[in-house]
Amino acid sequence: MPNLTARVGFYQFAPEFGAVSANLSKVVTALSGVDADIIVLPELAFTGYYFQNREELATLAETPEASATIAALIQLCRDNNFHLVTGFAEKAEDKIFNSALLINSEGIIQTYRKLHLFNTESEYFDPGDKPLQICNINGMKVGLMVCYDWAFPEVARTLALQGADLICHPSNLVLPWCQQAMLTRCMENGIFAITTNRTGSDIRLRGTLNFTGQSQIAGPKGVLVHQSSTEEEALYIANIDLAQARDKNVTPLSDLFSDRRPAFYSRLKYK
Ligand code: ACM
Repeated sequence: MPNLTARVGFYQFAPEFGAVSANLSKVVTALSGVDADIIVLPELAFTGYYFQNREELATLAETPEASATIAALIQLCRDNNFHLVTGFAEKAEDKIFNSALLINSEGIIQTYRKLHLFNTESEYFDPGDKPLQICNINGMKVGLMVCYDWAFPEVARTLALQGADLICHPSNLVLPWCQQAMLTRCMENGIFAITTNRTGSDIRLRGTLNFTGQSQIAGPKGVLVHQSSTEEEALYIANIDLAQARDKNVTPLSDLFSDRRPAFYSRLKYK
């Protein structure tokens, strides 16, 4: 096993609803000069989260290839030699997806469209339509999922079975269960996961949502590498050893992958 150490982390902050360029400036200022391989931003990091309706979302969603925000993030990757994962309101012809984009100095290298829409999201977003895939970044295999996907263990499992070492998980959490559940996702799959949540509130005509911070890096065996606070802005980078994610042994005789009995899981194929 080659020695594969990666520097990975998150930037937790409070995006201001609708203030795309102010949110971008905040991210560029916070991340300039940071030494990392990959940094994960929250879900919908530039638009905010709690849309009134599809018409409002359509005014803020963008086609990534034509987006000044994405162009600035590509430049940020170029200047600092890191990769970014960001939540993004993605316009694609007549559809709008709650997406996670993996970006490097050359452009967008992977797009994931949120499969499991949460609460009011299905009023204005289209459900994801792309298969779960992983991306190889200098030997580190990375998978993407978004927020409420945490509640569907099939997502992390599907990425892990494709070889993911690390799941990047932009989030806008309002409920208290995800962080604990992600320790289990990491334990049962023997992987690392970065859950980047936002802080602050979206105060809108339809109501107020308060986001709960506590972004975290979790690792194989369910280890909590680091968790940030509920309310403070936080930039955190850790060295992780990817060899730990390639060893699926629970004991010398028990293995998380080869002990599976998929012939007995056939009901998972059906609704
Ligand atoms: C969520 O999926 N933003 C809770």
